[in-house]
Amino acid sequence: MLLILRDKPDFPVEQIPSLPPPQISDNWPGYSLDLFTYPQHYYGDLEYVLIPHGIIVDRTERLAKDIMQDIGDNDIVVLCVLKGGYKFCADLVEHIKNLSRNSERFISMKVDFVRLKSYHNDQSMQDMQIMGGDDLSKLTGKDIVGTGRTMKVLLNNIEKCKPKMIKVASLLVKRTSRPDGYRPDYYGFEIPDLFVVGYALDYNEHFRDLNCYIFFSTYVLSMIMAKQNTESEAVTSSPEDLEAQ
Ligand code: IMP
Ligand code: MG
Repeated sequence: MLLILRDKPDFPVEQIPSLPPPQISDNWPGYSLDLFTYPQHYYGDLEYVLIPHGIIVDRTERLAKDIMQDIGDNDIVVLCVLKGGYKFCADLVEHIKNLSRNSERFISMKVDFVRLKSYHNDQSMQDMQIMGGDDLSKLTGKDIVGTGRTMKVLLNNIEKCKPKMIKVASLLVKRTSRPDGYRPDYYGFEIPDLFVVGYALDYNEHFRDLNCYIFFSTYVLSMIMAKQNTESEAVTSSPEDLEAQ
């Protein structure tokens, strides 16, 4: 292999401005499932692809760059919110590591995990149980912010540990008209108020193994619920109730 060195033009080193995250409109028809491959056992259960995997990867890389720009020389503790946040968090950490390795500044990073459990109704959200996370600190990696209630409860708890700085990154934020809407510091996409699965987000522990985000219609949801109700007596009334993360 030959490496040929040329004089490099002197470009000014500027920070690339961050644009507002892409918004997926309410009437976006998505991509047909037939354009992609997905596990056979999910045939018939899914509606359309909302965000393909490649776009998730590219957008996550950009979030990693924005985070790197903002954290300066601080060491970080990444707190991954399980289970739904594990894919995004792992990919984000990987990008931060790669960017840091290829720059002058090596970021020291610890990774910790928390799991949140709450009961299946809106009223009991305040009783949410937080498991794990001994070293609660700065950057929280989450899967999706729906109403934002889960995040607020978690942040209240993290703040008790008095970290120097807390930043929240979530790949998705749902467009909701609720008054308690929460916006993380970094997010990948704003999506319609739909129930989505894939890329570690589940419906009753199913669909985490899909690579992209897929819209999962309420029609299919009610069919699956009906099937489950006849198979067992486990009752779940709506996607809003699915708070087992
Ligand atoms: P919250 O409404 O922001 O409190 O969302 C709480 C949790 O519900 C999220 O962290 C997810 O684990 C789960 N969740 C919310 N919306 C969806 C969805 O569309 N698909 C799968 N899980 C979801
Ligand atoms: Mg879940």
